[in-house]
Formats: sequence, C-alpha cells, structure tokens
Amino acid sequence: MNTTPVKAAIVGAGFAADLHAAAMQLVPDQLQLAAVASRTEAHARELAGKYGIPKVFADYREMLRDPEIELVTIAAPNFVHAQVAIDCARAGKHVVCEKPLAMTIEEGEEMIDVCRRQGVLLLYAEELFFAPKYVKAKEMADQGAFGKIFQVKQSEKHFGPHSDWFWDVERSGGGALMDLGCHGIAFCYWFLNRAPIRSVYCQMDTLVHGGKTRGEDNAICILEFEGGAVGVVENSWSRRGGMDDSIEVYGDGGLTYADLLMGNALPTYSEHGFGYAVEKAPSTQGWSWPVFEEIWNYGFPQEMRHFARCVRGKETPLSTGQDGLVVMEALYAAYAAAGQGRKVALPFRPAGVKRPVDLWLNSRT
Ligand SMILES: NC(=O)c1ccc[n+]([C@@H]2O[C@H](COP(=O)([O-])OP(=O)(O)OC[C@H]3O[C@@H](n4cnc5c(N)ncnc54)[C@H](O)[C@@H]3O)[C@@H](O)[C@H]2O)c1
Repeated sequence: MNTTPVKAAIVGAGFAADLHAAAMQLVPDQLQLAAVASRTEAHARELAGKYGIPKVFADYREMLRDPEIELVTIAAPNFVHAQVAIDCARAGKHVVCEKPLAMTIEEGEEMIDVCRRQGVLLLYAEELFFAPKYVKAKEMADQGAFGKIFQVKQSEKHFGPHSDWFWDVERSGGGALMDLGCHGIAFCYWFLNRAPIRSVYCQMDTLVHGGKTRGEDNAICILEFEGGAVGVVENSWSRRGGMDDSIEVYGDGGLTYADLLMGNALPTYSEHGFGYAVEKAPSTQGWSWPVFEEIWNYGFPQEMRHFARCVRGKETPLSTGQDGLVVMEALYAAYAAAGQGRKVALPFRPAGVKRPVDLWLNSRT
C-alpha cells in the first residue's frame, strides 16, 4: 500500500485556500502541498511564500498537467466550481470541492458524473462533519443520549463576506443562504443520518445590505425530514460582532448545545486591542471572544486528513458530491419557498435555473 503523503494542489489563493493550506500543513504525514494556482498570480505567490508551496501557476489548467499532483482542492468562487472540478477530473486528479458544490443542480450532476467516469473521487468539503464538538454531539446522538431526535438547529451568522464576488449573485448564486445555509442544511442532513428531506420552508430578506447586493442577507429555513424530525437553519450576513456557528439538538430523551466560536473562546475585555479575536470580528477593543485552535475546532485538518486517506484507499468518503447535491436541491427548495411564501415538497428539481436565488427573486409574492 502507498504510504507516502498525497501530493495536493489548491485552485484559488484567497480565504478558503489559506484554510486549506494551513489545514494540510497540520497533517504533513497525509498531505504534501505541491502547488497553488490563482488567476491573480501575486496572491498565489503570497500564499506559496506563507506556506512554502514549491510551485505557483496563474492558470490552473497548466497546473493540472503536472503528473505529480494527485488531489486538487477547489477554493475558488462558486461560479467556477463545476468547470474546475470537471477539468481536474479529466486530468485524472481527485477533487475536493468547497461548498456550495456548484451554482446549479445540473452542474453538480455533471461534476459527479464526470468524476465517476474518470474514476476519481469527488469529495465535498463540508468541514462541519469533522468539527470535533459537532462530531461529539453526533456520537452521543448515535449512542441514544437524546432519545428520538425531533429537532436539530444550526446557525451560521456574521456581518457579511470579505470578497466582492459573494455579493454579486451572478457569481455566487445567492446570498447568506447560499453561502452559509449550505453548512446548516448539510449539518442537519448528516446529523439525522441522511434521512431524506421531505419539504423546505424558508423566509428571507435583504435587511441591511440592500445597497450592496440583490441577494438575501438573512434567512431562516425549516426542513422536514423523513421520520418526522425538523431541521432549523438560521443564516445571516446582518449579524454584528463577528462569526457565530452553533447548534442545538433536541430529542425526547435529552438535548445538547454546542457553540464552535464563543463557546471555545476566552471572554476578554481589552482597552487597547490585540491581534486577532475571531473570523470577521470588527475590533478587539472592549469585549471580545478570542478563539484558540480555530481551524482545528472547525475540523479543517481532520477533513483534509480524511480526504487524503480516502485517496490512499484507507477510508471511505464521509462527504461526497452526492451530499453536495442534496444540499443544492434543498437550497433550490428554500429559495422557491421564500419566493412563494409556502413550504415546497421534495423532490424539487426545476430545470433551467441559472442561479438558485432567482427562484426567490423571480417569484416573490
Ligand atoms: N468551508 C468554509 O467554511 C468556507 C469558508 C470560506 C469560503 N468557502 C468557499 O470557498 C470558495 C472560495 O471562497 P474564498 O472565501 O476563498 O474567496 P476569496 O475571494 O477569498 O478567494 C477566491 C480565490 O479564487 C481566485 N479566483 C477567482 N476567480 C477564479 C477563476 N476563474 N479561476 C481560478 N481562481 C479564481 C481568486 O483570485 C482568489 O484567489 C467559495 O466557494 C466559498 O464558498 C468555504
């Protein structure tokens, strides 16, 4: 059996690429970061300098010709996920794709189909499946700690993303729900052992950032699962004070709460401020909740380790393109439900949708 670290490359050199590189560096026995490609070569050079990545490319297709690379992680904007994944698969590289899987269900299906035909893995980078606190909650649930679970909630909220393309629905596909709701939907689905989603209701609005985006900046979704459990997914780009990522689990025999950020922080007061508190925090002066081991608590290194072991045939993928596709369908249903003001039953796969957010924008009641 091949026991050498998997040779990996990253497409993109922004925020998620930095997370991927940092995570890989924490599991050097599993992964060796060999190359990075970004349209803005200066950004790729900067990332390469920070993490000691030997090869830098401006065009990812050139990087795909490098026979040494076995696995490529896609940390580029949503609208390029499908094309990059398909190009990677055709070059014989295993694919790790950031969330959301794609802009549309059709794109997601094509990604899955091409990867299957090329004999490469399509791994969906949902790090919440690897976040230690959430994994512990799921282990307890699977051991019966909470009895029959009737409600699971995941919230992810901050005051809005860092790059322009997120705000432009042509390139993102939607706002806070598309960006953050994909985590919550995936979380509820995974936590409930992949019970099929039966219906989705959603209410959304653009409350604070109307001058900046046509997308929603606040969304609340209710998902009904087969077996009767309900998932609640709350997302916001309108929440002040930095990032929130938390869950609640309720069953007829118990409950648990977990807060990945404020719950893993040092309640701190500082007159003078300091370097860094938490993702997207506006200030470190006054009260703040500085986190420690941030990427470990999110599960990024554990996720990358698992993906590398999948490439080597040592583990079976725990998060695949198929999971990403389930999330895409629920996103479609959520936008349609918000537009129509009523819950939408699944299966829900309208053809010809260009961007999920259109299902809301074009049919607002
Ligand atoms: N799992 C998570 O928690 C998480 C966190 C942040 C972002 N993401 C996802 O990661 C992806 C990237 O987001 P980000 O925050 O890093 O964005 P970003 O704007 O910080 O970085 C995007 C990078 O992609 C490059 N790029 C842009 N267009 C490209 C193209 N056509 N081809 C190749 N590269 C291109 C840019 O030059 C930049 O380096 C998104 O899909 C986002 O949803 C996931």
